[in-house]
Amino acid sequence: MILNKIFSSFIFTETLNFDNKKINNYCLGHLKKEINQTDLLDLNNENIIDLKNTINNKLNVVKDLIGLKKKLKLEINEAWCNNNSPTVTTVPHNHVSSVLSAVYYSKVENNSSPLEFLNPNSMLDYTFKPEFIEDYNDLTSTRWTINLKENLLVIFPSYLIHYVRAGVDNQRISIAMNSKFCE
Ligand SMILES: [Fe+2]
Repeated sequence: MILNKIFSSFIFTETLNFDNKKINNYCLGHLKKEINQTDLLDLNNENIIDLKNTINNKLNVVKDLIGLKKKLKLEINEAWCNNNSPTVTTVPHNHVSSVLSAVYYSKVENNSSPLEFLNPNSMLDYTFKPEFIEDYNDLTSTRWTINLKENLLVIFPSYLIHYVRAGVDNQRISIAMNSKFCE
């Protein structure tokens, strides 16, 4: 018998090498009091333009790897910073106006809560109930967990619902980016 995997999803992860001090200062400077998320950033600001260009290139590599048209070019069209407070679970959400999204972690203090993605097949565990599972894998999992660390880049299809659970973590600063195809 041959296992044919169908209707798959994915995430790409990579550790980057950036001057996070500059990025963190820029992010913290744009946060408003009591709010954990900045407004949209100036994508050409000197503090983040290298990061943006690097991630933009990687989004186009991923675009080709998953089989989207080579002649189409993805362009990051919005970015914002998150400064997560330890005790707040982010609301599960996706970024449907985008094609591929990216999040880069410029500061992750010890014991950070993981980033979790939900399987878009929300019916899965009605059929494969937890008590039936020997070992969870990509065919049986309803959630996928990424342990966060500084300098980690995560790229994902923008339809995937994701969130971070509340935890005992200390400060965690991330920059999220969305992309669209160039006109
Ligand atoms: Fe998000």
